[in-house]
Amino acid sequence: TGYITFDEGYGNTGSCKSEITFIDGEKGILRHRGYRIEDLAEKARFLETAYLIIYGELPSGDDYEAFRGRVHRNTAIHVGMESHFDGFPLDAHPMAILSSLLNSLGCYYPNLASNDREQDLEHFDEAAPLAISKVRTLAAMAYRMKVGKPFVYPDHKLLYSQNLLHMMFSEPYEQYVASETVAHALDLFLLLHADHEQNCSTSTVRMVASGGANLFASVSAGVSALWGPLHGGANMAVIRMLEAIHKDGDDGSRFIEAAKRKEARLMGFGHRVYRNFDPRAKILGKACTRVLDEMGKSDPLLDIARRLEQAALEDSYFIDRKLYPNVDFYSGILLKAIGIPVEMFTVLFAIGRLPGWLANWREIASEKDGRIHRPRQIYTGPAERDYIPLRTR
Ligand code: CMC
Repeated sequence: TGYITFDEGYGNTGSCKSEITFIDGEKGILRHRGYRIEDLAEKARFLETAYLIIYGELPSGDDYEAFRGRVHRNTAIHVGMESHFDGFPLDAHPMAILSSLLNSLGCYYPNLASNDREQDLEHFDEAAPLAISKVRTLAAMAYRMKVGKPFVYPDHKLLYSQNLLHMMFSEPYEQYVASETVAHALDLFLLLHADHEQNCSTSTVRMVASGGANLFASVSAGVSALWGPLHGGANMAVIRMLEAIHKDGDDGSRFIEAAKRKEARLMGFGHRVYRNFDPRAKILGKACTRVLDEMGKSDPLLDIARRLEQAALEDSYFIDRKLYPNVDFYSGILLKAIGIPVEMFTVLFAIGRLPGWLANWREIASEKDGRIHRPRQIYTGPAERDYIPLRTR
């Protein structure tokens, strides 16, 4: 059957053609649909960026209002879904809950999740804002379940990020309305995570979608792929690493030495594609300082992070391997500053990444000449051998 090209971990394999996101890893450039991430971070909001990523153009005022209207109208979860939460143990990880419930969501909208490509595409304009809205409600419900508190209904008057925080932190006797600083910081976090071409979770979404699976099934696989510490789980791992360094009374230098001896991994450092500063980390590093200043807070973990960054940028181990801080290095400090519990960090990454997954689902579903994704392998198991009956083994 001809030769198979071996490319471990697909480091050099283009698995698809895509018009969504451009990355130049050598130069540290990231653009969505041609727009620089720095411009979007400064001037746009998360939902506007989501629209751009999904539909290819910045929305007109009317389009944006219509899209936001669809997001607002879809915040509530079918009551039947509330009972799903009863089945999870209290210490279930919210990523497990989110992945399961996103897949289940499709069962409540069979016309949007038919696994008939034509039909699912026809309903995409309904399904995409619905998913963007309900992922947030499900995430907040997972958090409330875990802390043993009643679910909080959404408040349509609030901004996307404020509504998430309201559903997580409001009490029946007191509504939590996030300050502008906090709402803006969370919106920025979501925007910076909105898409990142063929990373592990997005290529998983495309892989699942290539077999014809519906949008909800595909993005729930994306959540599972995101969970691991080398991918979306890195934002939790960074905070745990910084806390451990702080607890040990280390200023970071002992940890750097351990990383060089390969006894530890500097979480939040390195990237398969960026061989230069991750532009998202630059924006988030600045945002962390601004948010902590505006909130009048200080965090010793930010000081350790800055020291690690400085040391790593000067150390030949990191310079030779082109290891720079990535998006997860500062995002945990930002989320911690605005009161998000560590266990929810990767869930928030998933909410942010959903527009990218949806855009990639739509792109692959719309392909006229698309093929199912089916890589080959290099077999390294035993050569042919004869079966030995059980009694003689
Ligand atoms: N700390 C110390 N050494 C590292 C690190 C690190 N964080 N990352 C890579 N290296 C070393 C690695 O040991 C190897 O050294 P050598 O050449 O001596 O064997 C060299 O750098 C190349 O590393 P690699 O493992 O081939 O790189 P990769 O492209 O397979 O992995 C990565 C990329 C992001 C998984 C990896 O850098 C890593 O594990 N980083 C920490 C986890 C992390 O921050 N992940 C978030 C990634 S960005 C957002 C996202 O995708 O969610």
